[in-house]
Amino acid sequence: MMSVGQRMNMTEELVIDLGFSGLLHDIGKIEIPDTLLNKALPLNSTDRRLLQRHPDAGFKLLSLDSGVSQMTLDICRYHHELLDGSGYPAGLKGTEISLAVRITTVCDVFDALTTRRPYKRSWSAGEALRWLYQRPNHYDSDIVRQLDASLAPNSLD
Ligand SMILES: [Fe+2]
Repeated sequence: MMSVGQRMNMTEELVIDLGFSGLLHDIGKIEIPDTLLNKALPLNSTDRRLLQRHPDAGFKLLSLDSGVSQMTLDICRYHHELLDGSGYPAGLKGTEISLAVRITTVCDVFDALTTRRPYKRSWSAGEALRWLYQRPNHYDSDIVRQLDASLAPNSLD
């Protein structure tokens, strides 16, 4: 996330905030049972409803600390929003989703795809990037390009 932020000309202060936010973005998952987090797909509607509470749960938790930045709160609350409005919890669209949140979403999905889970193998970076590029209605293509470039610095230079 920090590399992408740097590449998108964010200030050093914002890049540091972005990194800190990345560490905290899924903190709401502490309220989700491990059995559900590790459950094999497909999830049923009850599972999905419970899992989809984690952004608001995390936001509420972080809101208790006045030292947490607005960026961190936004990232925690909105990192599952998608550009076409089909994400959750608020169904935000396009530019209603801040750049910092859009960076988080792309990097979070990339991380999920390239990580081995009890229910799936890890994908290669190339497979994950291709998957993200193929979904411009969900993920900001400029950000996917910057992530791509940050992983292979010589490819776009
Ligand atoms: Fe999440």
